[in-house]
Amino acid sequence: MERLVDQAGRSIGPPAPAPTTASPAITKWLANSSDLAQLQTAHPMSDAVIDQIDGRRIRIGQHWLTDFASCNYLGFDLEPEIIQAVPEYLARWGTHPSWSRLLGSPRLYEEIEAELTTLLGAEDTLLLPTITHIHMSVIPVLAAGGAIFLDARAHKTIYDGCVSATTQGATIQRFRHDDPDHLQELMRACDRFPRLICLDGVNSMTGNIPPLGELARIAGEHDALLYVDDAHGFGVIGERGPGELCDYGMRGNSVVRHANQSYQNLLLVGGFSKAYSSLLAFIACPTSLKNVLKVAAPPYLYSGPSPVASLATVLAGFKVNAERGDVIRADLNRKTTRVLDCLEQLNVATPNRAGLPIIEVPLANPDDLDAVGRYLFDRGIYVTLAAYPLVPRSQVGFRIQPTAANTDAEITYLLQVLRELAERSKLQARQR
Ligand SMILES: Cc1ncc(COP(=O)(O)O)c(C=O)c1O
Repeated sequence: MERLVDQAGRSIGPPAPAPTTASPAITKWLANSSDLAQLQTAHPMSDAVIDQIDGRRIRIGQHWLTDFASCNYLGFDLEPEIIQAVPEYLARWGTHPSWSRLLGSPRLYEEIEAELTTLLGAEDTLLLPTITHIHMSVIPVLAAGGAIFLDARAHKTIYDGCVSATTQGATIQRFRHDDPDHLQELMRACDRFPRLICLDGVNSMTGNIPPLGELARIAGEHDALLYVDDAHGFGVIGERGPGELCDYGMRGNSVVRHANQSYQNLLLVGGFSKAYSSLLAFIACPTSLKNVLKVAAPPYLYSGPSPVASLATVLAGFKVNAERGDVIRADLNRKTTRVLDCLEQLNVATPNRAGLPIIEVPLANPDDLDAVGRYLFDRGIYVTLAAYPLVPRSQVGFRIQPTAANTDAEITYLLQVLRELAERSKLQARQR
């Protein structure tokens, strides 16, 4: 493969693959998964080693880029008040609890659950290290050999949790993305119970918000439970009201409050690893279910805990969120709007309708992904590439995720590079 080099001839891409010493069985297996291997080695923006950060600038080898690929939407990873809060927690609790939660939960968990429950306006919350842990363990418990209805564009980790539930007898039917009528049709034709409807809150690919009210109504009519993963909405969108500074709403208390729905028939899953820049996740549920999950969902007993630094950054993040969160969100909204307005002026397509900071930009020709990825890399713009077969060929492109920590100058430069790509007809045009 051709190597990327800087002006001095130094390599700036990922290192060349080492010669393999794999056994014939592994070599054969690798040949069968060559599409994915190609993805990993073909792009300097895939599997990259970041050598240094400076604000939202990152250094890969000798090459500095501006990062639009992280999910640190509120910039809490760089927030001095949050960083400064950590040492005191480490001094009190050490670096790592290293009990599974059932064996011993530092009081910090109780404090976070209490504050989170109040923020969400839910009955109770249960914390586990990651959303993946929650999907893999809780979905099989809830599906209990019944029927799962899965949004066609739900996140891969939800899908994996549902597949795991099939080993205990559950069936999976997929309904068209954001299509309540199709869901209704499938539910009418189904005679299995219990019933679970699984979907993303803010969708991780499109950045859009599902029609939660309609889905909740259908769930109620068909005696089903809604299971919503709002990894990307928690911290970014929240309740609407007269005091709001922008359309994201207030307090960042997630999609259920944003859509003015109740937790009656709905379980909300979310995480701190995006807007709160911390390794921790939650499920909001009734206390009775929480107590069952403590023993029925394996990670509470069998998995290690989140590091103390993450528990500390969540608690410090709550404080910043309460004091300045809405101002930070308004700034994020303004920066995101600049990018979306530019795409509109350039007549470039994006599925983003909600104005949230996940901006998918499909290419005019999916075969250009390699070249466009390299162009962005050379021009110092770091984004997430969406390659086939991870997305359908018509949606091959890249995803821009602005954060509040990106400077206005960085956004201005991003717009210039997008304009260059549009002038070269590399980006998909809007349908009229
Ligand atoms: C919608 C969604 N759910 C779950 C996850 C995984 O979260 P975690 O890292 O907490 O397992 C992601 C991560 O990208 C996501 O986008």
